[in-house]
Amino acid sequence: MITLAIETSCDETASAILKRDQNGLITVLSERISSQVKIHEAYGGIVPELAAREHLVNLPILVDQVMNEAKLTYRDINCLSVTRGPGLKGCLLIGLNFAKGVAVAHALPLIGVNHIEGHIYSPFIGETPPTDPFLALVVSGGHTEIHLVHGISNYELISRTLDDAAGEAFDKSAHLLGLPYPGGAKLAELADRAGSSRYVLPRFMRESDNFSFSGLKTAVLLLVKKEQAGIALSDQLRGELAYAIQSAIIENIVVKLKSAISKSGVKRVVLSGGVAANSALRLELAKLPGVDLKVAKPLWCTDNAAMIGYIGLLRYSESKNNSLIGDTDKNSSLTNSVLARWPVELLK
Ligand code: KG4
Ligand code: ZN
Repeated sequence: MITLAIETSCDETASAILKRDQNGLITVLSERISSQVKIHEAYGGIVPELAAREHLVNLPILVDQVMNEAKLTYRDINCLSVTRGPGLKGCLLIGLNFAKGVAVAHALPLIGVNHIEGHIYSPFIGETPPTDPFLALVVSGGHTEIHLVHGISNYELISRTLDDAAGEAFDKSAHLLGLPYPGGAKLAELADRAGSSRYVLPRFMRESDNFSFSGLKTAVLLLVKKEQAGIALSDQLRGELAYAIQSAIIENIVVKLKSAISKSGVKRVVLSGGVAANSALRLELAKLPGVDLKVAKPLWCTDNAAMIGYIGLLRYSESKNNSLIGDTDKNSSLTNSVLARWPVELLK
């Protein structure tokens, strides 16, 4: 069984072709990701209108490329998988409407995939499927949440951020340190190089199940202002500030995860999302006693279409088709649209 997958929820345009064999193993046949970082860098953040326009230009090109690379025609495709939400509405609409066009032209079923569900299962692309239950920690630029996973589309929310996402906390702090957007990875690099810090940032909301990173942003702003005092930060100070910021964000994540482990009694942990690429975070999580940690491969930490195709194939082959948009579900139709807000725990 083969799917053509499309992802356009934020600032990465992506397409992939995946195959599910008789043993249930799902592998990637071809894949393309086009990042828009260079375009949004000048604005210090994502401009939704520009992102949508870029998707419109790039998506048809990427789809052609993955089809050619996999040496397939639309007759070889069994279903289409497309991100239906959550994400930026205008961006989601480009991907979904493109997919609808292909579905109509080639009479293919179309599966609307939840982007967060894609992240949750991304560590299992090309690998043995997970044993449930497990804890899923998704830390990305737009989302930070922990779920107890009982199986595909069966999620129990444990923690979610009340304000900024972990990636956002990295990026906004990086901006305050004068690093170009999105500064998460660059801040991490400075922090790792510094290795220690004279600063300790306050820890927020330790007692709550939920995450909160906006207080940290204010603390960083005040500290940077004080240290800068009208002059440029020295490399030494910038490195030490980066270290203190990274440590505070990681500790925040580790505290919530520990609490989720002790409350659920589940020690299998699956880490995904852009911030899962952070090596200090991976190291800290790997140190947790008795925890069986599975992390997404770097290519599939940030947004990609392989994770969307993975879920699409699972849902299609297991006929869990309540998110299907297309001819295999009598109750839904091509009139279904995107869901900019779509909490993953609402899936059935
Ligand atoms: O998963 P993703 O593409 O975004 C959403 O789906 O929302 O993740 C992008 C985020 C950005 O905030 C980026 O700065 C952050 O992941 N990121 C990192 C690292 N690499 C990427 N944050 C900290 N350390 C890194 N090494
Ligand atoms: Zn994402």
